[in-house]
Amino acid sequence: MSGRTLRAYEEFLGRIRELHHLHSAVAMLNWDQQTYMPSKAAPLRAGQLEALAGVIHERTTAPRLLALLDELTAAGEELDDGGRIDVRETRRVVERTRRVPRELVQEISRTQPLAQQHWLAAREQADFALFAPWLEKMVALKRRVAEALGYEQTPYDPLLDEYEPGATAAEVDRVLTALRPRLVAMTRAIADSSLEPRRELLERSFPLDGQQAFSAWLLRQMGYDFTAGRLDVAPHPFTIGNLWDVRITTRYRADRITQSIFATLHEGGHALYEQGFDPAHLGTPRASAASLGIHESQSRMWENLVGRSLAFWEFAFPFLQAFFPDQTRDVTLEDWYPAINDVRPTCIRVEADEVTYNLHIILRFELERALIEGRLPVADLPGAWNEGLRELLGVEPPDDRQGVLQDIHWAMGLFGYFPTYALGNLYAAQLFETATREVPDLMGRLTRGDLLSLKSWANERIHRPGQEHRPVDLIRGVTGEEPSVEHLISHLRRKYSPLYGGWA
Ligand code: CO
Repeated sequence: MSGRTLRAYEEFLGRIRELHHLHSAVAMLNWDQQTYMPSKAAPLRAGQLEALAGVIHERTTAPRLLALLDELTAAGEELDDGGRIDVRETRRVVERTRRVPRELVQEISRTQPLAQQHWLAAREQADFALFAPWLEKMVALKRRVAEALGYEQTPYDPLLDEYEPGATAAEVDRVLTALRPRLVAMTRAIADSSLEPRRELLERSFPLDGQQAFSAWLLRQMGYDFTAGRLDVAPHPFTIGNLWDVRITTRYRADRITQSIFATLHEGGHALYEQGFDPAHLGTPRASAASLGIHESQSRMWENLVGRSLAFWEFAFPFLQAFFPDQTRDVTLEDWYPAINDVRPTCIRVEADEVTYNLHIILRFELERALIEGRLPVADLPGAWNEGLRELLGVEPPDDRQGVLQDIHWAMGLFGYFPTYALGNLYAAQLFETATREVPDLMGRLTRGDLLSLKSWANERIHRPGQEHRPVDLIRGVTGEEPSVEHLISHLRRKYSPLYGGWA
């Protein structure tokens, strides 16, 4: 590397690290807002976040940063592989940010809290009409974002690309179309079976302090580093932060022990990803997640492939009994395992099981794509929702509160986000299959409580590369195959066929 290129690269690194620190300050303010912030502080926090957003926008679009990117791109082979990844991924963000006019970004920021407020009121009163004008506005704004970013096939593509670099609506559609009939058939076969899990045992009263202690125990078993993070409570669990400060939130409800267990395992999976980067690359794309779909694969792997497996509970169930002797005295593992794997069509996505979950995503993907493409007027959305849900799951929401108004995403302007949940489920199954090949006796290890072997495997194969590979290339590189629905389908068959009486 010439002296000139080296100086340019160092200046560039200084700038992207500064941006990273600004972003992580925003993340911590968001965490605080959703956990401990006093309610009167809301306007103050809004001002702080707006001020920081302005600084971040200014620094991201700074002409000097673009000039450095151009210089480093021109330097070509002079940069090592790592440097080229930093430049490529930074350019991606910088160009996106520069293309969307600042007034549009500001209008979206101003609209978001209002849209959310009206969504909340509409949801409380189960009255979609209260939210409809705000949803119309949000769709129009995001449509303008798509136009500003540019696209070839559909305005949905540039929106999806923000969360899943390189993914297209056509590709997601192909995958979900392959998944749909098989999940529908599986759900029907399970509904026809006679197994009745002991659901009541999950609704017993489990004291919250015990649940909290059990959640922390679960995270310690997974290898989550409590000296580089913490566990708190939030109404909608999330994980925030990077490397040395990765904070998890979960939620506790006395008569829903599974809610905290699976939210904790899920968020723990996200947290291991963020704690698993190479510290040498702090503040660069090489210490950032490849995509939301890959992120979700890590949470789903721990929540479902590990956390809902018999192998894991052979280890963990005696500990659950030790934490909650009164609630579990008359419960055996043979009761517990079917109860936590109860498959039943429901109207609510976040309550859905492993089999039906992706059907909820298929519904949302089809509808949000039609909204953005202008094929579905907002006024027709509730009807389309109910009809779609009936076709996919055979259930009908009693009202819009439990139907089209259940998720916050569209009120926040998050279009193109839902598919990353389905991709996460598919990637999780495919990656876990590779892990069972590459980690000797993985299931036996889980039974013995050795969860760290899986963590180390994921650290090495998935976490450490950061954004070295685009999501699809990462999956191909790790598993040796194109991303496919077959791994999820065969996982579900293997697991649920014996449980529900050999229908597969
Ligand atoms: Co998640």
